Amino acid sequence: MPSKHLYSIRMRASARERHISGAERIIPEERIDATVSGLITRALSKGCAPDTIVVTLDSLKDVAPIQHRALDVVMLSVPDVRSGREMASRILQSLGVSDMAIELAMTHLDRGVSPSGNNMRGAMVLDASTGDRLEQDRERGVRASRFDWSDDGEKEITRLLTDAGLTHFRTREALALATKVAHAPGMVAELCWSDDPDYTAGYVASLAMGYVRFPVLKHRGNGKGGRAFFVDPDVFEMEAFLTYLQTRPVLITEAGQCRQVLDPKKFFT
Ligand code: COA
Ligand code: AMP
Repeated sequence: MPSKHLYSIRMRASARERHISGAERIIPEERIDATVSGLITRALSKGCAPDTIVVTLDSLKDVAPIQHRALDVVMLSVPDVRSGREMASRILQSLGVSDMAIELAMTHLDRGVSPSGNNMRGAMVLDASTGDRLEQDRERGVRASRFDWSDDGEKEITRLLTDAGLTHFRTREALALATKVAHAPGMVAELCWSDDPDYTAGYVASLAMGYVRFPVLKHRGNGKGGRAFFVDPDVFEMEAFLTYLQTRPVLITEAGQCRQVLDPKKFFT
C-alpha cells in the first residue's frame, strides 16, 4: 500500500548561471528514488549540459494537499500572432481585465518583462484595472510552486491531451500550473507565452473560461516571454496570494473537459 507520507521534489538546472530547466512533483516516500532520477534525466536532456542541478526534497509533513479539478481546456485555432493576440485580448476583456492592463502586459512580454529587459524568473502581477505592476521584485516576479497531478488525474489528462494531438509534457505541466494559479485568492486571469524561441503557443487561463490555448501568440525565434497574473484590486492581498502560490501544496486530481474551437468567431457564441 502506498505510504501517505508525501514529499515535494523540485529540480532546477542552470548553465553559465542561466536557468535552463525546472520541474516538480508531489509524490509518496517510496517513489523518491525513481522521481529524483527522472528529474535528473530531464535536466540532462535539455541539449545543453548543465553546470548545476539542484534537487530539493521537502516533506509535506501533515499538510494535506488541496485538491483541484483541472481547468477545462479549449484549443482555439488561430492562424497567426495578430489574430491570436486579438482573441486573447477579447477573452481577457470579457473576464474584466481593462484594455490598458492588457496592452501593458503584452508590451512587457514582448520587450522583456524585467527592468533589465530580460525575461523574469517568475510572473509579473498586474492590477486588472490599471495595469500597475504589484510584484515587489521586477526581475524575479512571483513563482507558483508545490503542485502536481495525482496518478489518476495524470492518466486522464494525458489521454485527453494526446487524443487532441497535444503530446508534449509541457502542456500538461502548464495546465497544472495554470490550474493552481487560477484558484489563487484575488486572481482574475493569467496570460502566458513561453520564452523558448521555438515554442510559439500560449494561453489565457481563468476559473471562468478555463485554459484557452493558442497555437501562436508570438513569432518563432523570439526569445522573449513570460507570465502575467491579473488580479482584482478590490479583493487582492499580496500576502495571502503569495502564501497560496508559493507554499500550499496542490494536487490536480481530475481532468476537465477538452474541446477544440476551429472558428474563433464561434468562441463567444
Ligand atoms: N527561471 C529562472 N530562474 C529560476 C527559475 C525560473 N523559472 N526557477 C528557479 N530559478 C532560480 C532562481 O535563481 C531562484 O532564485 P530566486 O528565488 O531569487 O528567483 C533559484 O533558482 C531558487 O528558486 P526556487 O523556486 O526557490 O527553487 P526550487 O528548487 O524550490 O523550485 C522550480 C524550482 C523551477 C521547480 C520552481 O520554481 C518552479 O518553477 N516550479 C514549477 C515548474 C513547472 O511545472 N513549470 C511549468 C512550466 S510549463
Ligand atoms: P516557461 O513556461 O517555462 O517557458 O516559462 C515562461 C515564463 O514564465 C518564464 O520566463 C518566467 O517568467 C515565468 N515562470 C517560469 N516558471 C514560473 C512559475 N513557476 N510560476 C510563475 N511564472 C513562472
